[in-house]
Amino acid sequence: MRDLKGKTLVVASHNAGKLREFADLLEPFGIDAKSAKEFGLPEPDETGTTFEENAYIKAFAAAKATGLPAMSDDSGLAVDALDGEPGVYTANWAEKPDGSRDFMMAMEKTEKRLQEAGASDPAHRGGRFVAVICLAWPDGEAEYFRGEAEGHLVWPPRGDSGFGYDPVFLPLGHQRTFGEMTAEEKHGWKPGQPDALSHRARAFQKFAQARLGSA
Ligand code: IMP
Repeated sequence: MRDLKGKTLVVASHNAGKLREFADLLEPFGIDAKSAKEFGLPEPDETGTTFEENAYIKAFAAAKATGLPAMSDDSGLAVDALDGEPGVYTANWAEKPDGSRDFMMAMEKTEKRLQEAGASDPAHRGGRFVAVICLAWPDGEAEYFRGEAEGHLVWPPRGDSGFGYDPVFLPLGHQRTFGEMTAEEKHGWKPGQPDALSHRARAFQKFAQARLGSA
């Protein structure tokens, strides 16, 4: 696998929440990172059925279009009582008929499904956020880094930090939801420190150790 040092890295996402988190995570490495949006790239259709497939579709499309290495993240929430749903369709559950996204509606839908499944106590409301980072090169070579964060879903939503389903996700061993944490607390990680907390930071930690020379 080739070296990223001295190269521009495209962050293949149009999701403002993810872009903010990757900017924070990449900042200590002094990498010249630019978003797919800055290159005016279209958002490819996510036609895969796994996080890996969708992460590859996004990263490779950006790498091919720019001639630069590109990283993407495909992520979602897998709820045990819903047999792993919404999973790769996590963003779709927020889609409205006009194409815009409403995450309060998506969290309500998840809660309704949990109620229908009779999952009212925390022990039956477990799940995890999953993030798969793909690093792809213009010739199609690709590498994957997966991070997961265990926890359970709370209702009503708590906190207005972060994005997406953060206000209903209480990570294992914590008293505050991702929506009640600062970005730094949610990542839970800086280079050289042992354990990241969020799924994205855990995947990023593996990526940084493998490709950015992080401790
Ligand atoms: P995709 O990776 O673009 O398919 O979108 C994944 C969806 O999962 C996002 O739109 C969010 O709704 C949700 N998601 C992924 N990571 C997080 C997170 O860190 N916090 C809250 N929601 C997330």
